[in-house]
Amino acid sequence: MSRVQQQNRQAWDDRARRGAWYTETATERHFKNPLAVIDQCGWLGGDVTGQRVLCLAAGGGKQSALYAAAGAMVTVVDISPEMLRLDRQVAIERRLRIQTVEASMDDLSALEPASFEIVVQPVSTCYVPDVEAVYRQVARVTTPGGLYISQHKQPVSLQADVVPSSRGYGLNEPYHRSGPLPPVAAGTPHRESETLEFLHRWENLLGGLCRSGFVIEDVAEPRHANPKAEPGTFGHRSCFVPPYIKIKARRKHDTPTESLGRRIWTP
Ligand SMILES: C[S@@+](CC[C@H](N)C(=O)[O-])C[C@H]1O[C@@H](n2cnc3c(N)ncnc32)[C@H](O)[C@@H]1O
Repeated sequence: MSRVQQQNRQAWDDRARRGAWYTETATERHFKNPLAVIDQCGWLGGDVTGQRVLCLAAGGGKQSALYAAAGAMVTVVDISPEMLRLDRQVAIERRLRIQTVEASMDDLSALEPASFEIVVQPVSTCYVPDVEAVYRQVARVTTPGGLYISQHKQPVSLQADVVPSSRGYGLNEPYHRSGPLPPVAAGTPHRESETLEFLHRWENLLGGLCRSGFVIEDVAEPRHANPKAEPGTFGHRSCFVPPYIKIKARRKHDTPTESLGRRIWTP
């Protein structure tokens, strides 16, 4: 396991143990209409019954449980054993069938090729240095014509200060960069201070998907802006800096896995 993987696994294990942000399991309210919670964009066609769904880097007992409750056959992959423990806990409590796999999103060799009609990935590609390596792995395990719905931190959100100065949220990190971002102080929901996070440029986030055998069908920018929120809060910063992008992509029928990632243009 790489240094990055080790640190991020440790960080998410700790977060799960202390119930930090983004480790909340699904609640009674969510189970009343699971599909409405997991498909706010209406991209899943209104029914996931019997579909093989991979919840990628989605441990924590929320996504996996809601997809399973909506009738899908769910596998959840995560690098953190503690996050996966929450998935198993909810599965037992709710009598749901959920398969858990401990693996890094950029090495899905434990999974069979073309074994999922749907892959869903919450915000998590910021924890790996190479987002295109993840896309190639997802392309391998997605059926031709299958859906890949992923959410990512927008690059500008990883460049901008988390706390405003008198001139607003300054852009302090270069766009073209390598290596993990410098750490931030704890207590902001925009960054997970104990983790190593990486900025991915648009040419990698969007172009990388196309080069990996997917066609982008739709894009959304989930709204978190709250003009009435206090400066420095998630809602206030989101008025100026969009935090996330959500992408609906479909696996092409005609791209053999061995040709994935071949670049046609080099910057
Ligand atoms: C924001 S959380 C997403 C899960 C959250 N419970 C949800 O439903 O949105 C990010 C997840 O990515 C996982 N993660 C971090 N690095 C990973 C890696 N290299 N491979 C797989 N999962 C990883 C973390 O353990 C964590 O569970």
